[in-house]
Amino acid sequence: MRVTVSRKAHFNAAHRLYRADWDDAKNESTFGKCSNEYFHGHNYELIVHVTGEINPETGYVMDMKVLRDLIKSEVEDAFDHKNLNVQVPEFKNLIPTAENIVVVIYNKLRPHLETQQDLEVVLYETPRNFVKYNGK
Ligand code: NI
Repeated sequence: MRVTVSRKAHFNAAHRLYRADWDDAKNESTFGKCSNEYFHGHNYELIVHVTGEINPETGYVMDMKVLRDLIKSEVEDAFDHKNLNVQVPEFKNLIPTAENIVVVIYNKLRPHLETQQDLEVVLYETPRNFVKYNGK
């Protein structure tokens, strides 16, 4: 019996979508307001889904306190109130689009889960724009 347990989290972060090898006009036409040279913030909402077998001893798929602490240490502490381009090493050479951020989050969480557990991460950059990654 495989069940999905989910935890929501939140962080605020600044970013700029920009390629140094493109001129301003191309950056502006591709990335719009997100290419603003002075950066800007988003209120990111995160939903982490872990699917696995129910442990017959505990009745849990995963202890939610463990999942909460994992999201805090790997994502919130690393990203919250940070400038992603400048302060988060994963984005030194990676444009911090929602797509790239969700993959980075997945890759940070995945090693902490059991191999039989499946992970899916959903990231809202705005209430209407969100992305999803499950490692495939
Ligand atoms: Ni943006």
